[in-house]
Amino acid sequence: MPFPVHRPRRLRSSDAIRRMVRETNLTPDDFIYPLFVTFGKGVRKKIASMPGCFQMSVDEIVKEAQRVYKLGVPAVILFGIPEHKDERASEAYSAKGVVQKAVKAVKDKVPGLVVITDVCLCEYMSHGHCGIVNKGRVLNDPTLELLAREALSHAEAGADIVAPSDMMDGRVAAIRDALNAGGFEDIPIMSYAAKYASAFYGPFREAAESTPAFGDRRSYQMDPANRREAVKEAALDIEEGADIVMVKPAMSYMDIISDVKDTFDVPVAAYNVSGEYSMVKAAAKLGWIDEMNIVMEILTSVKRAGADLILTYHAVDAVKELNK
Ligand code: PBG
Repeated sequence: MPFPVHRPRRLRSSDAIRRMVRETNLTPDDFIYPLFVTFGKGVRKKIASMPGCFQMSVDEIVKEAQRVYKLGVPAVILFGIPEHKDERASEAYSAKGVVQKAVKAVKDKVPGLVVITDVCLCEYMSHGHCGIVNKGRVLNDPTLELLAREALSHAEAGADIVAPSDMMDGRVAAIRDALNAGGFEDIPIMSYAAKYASAFYGPFREAAESTPAFGDRRSYQMDPANRREAVKEAALDIEEGADIVMVKPAMSYMDIISDVKDTFDVPVAAYNVSGEYSMVKAAAKLGWIDEMNIVMEILTSVKRAGADLILTYHAVDAVKELNK
């Protein structure tokens, strides 16, 4: 008879005791803050579906980087919105691209901030897909060369970590080879290993202007119904040289985060994506939820599931809350 010998409530009786037996604690070092870089000067344009997020030109990105670093945010991930899009995503791997310029400027002014770059082509392609398109199909192998060039150009600009999010097969190996050949064998790869074809990316596509012009991403991103396949994807990426593997989205994919964490001995990242953020913001605006309590509960549960790192648009608010 466990009761009355066992009374789990004993360890919940005061805040001090609850803190002592707490299994999961968030720290500011857990967070990576996403930023959207656009062309121009003095641009700080609101993203309607993501209140609190902006498209910023390089000069504004530098100011934002200084601000968040001072608050204690350890890392940012940069996404680019180029001036011109074409069918070869030329600005993705141009030394004069917006991300390359932003990396250089931020590393120059805020050297202590870890700058991660998203390596993908969709924002730079006129059709909005993550690879080269031929007759309506997204081609895998010809895309690898462009991704490798893009990652190399980010490293040359000074990126600390590159993060491929395209879901082409073999891209981690192609990027590792290109980085090694370029003398960047010490730059880590954080791969979006288990990235699902998710409706939760809706607001991001407004933010990054990357909605596919035709079709969807289901021929390269994972089917949300699949669990075992995520372990296979992570295994392949680790074999190809990924240093950190990511699961994306986070909240509806906690089982996947947990599986990947239990199976592999590399750090696991989870991306608390735009749709997850916007739902919280919308409900908070309506007065239906307590925003900060919900945010901390979500982030804690993502970490509890197994994430060592969390990419989140709530990063600045969460760090402020933790440092209170
Ligand atoms: C680019 C990319 C996307 C996201 C991160 N990198 C969009 C997509 O795959 O359509 C989504 C991030 C978010 O929703 O917050 N491939």
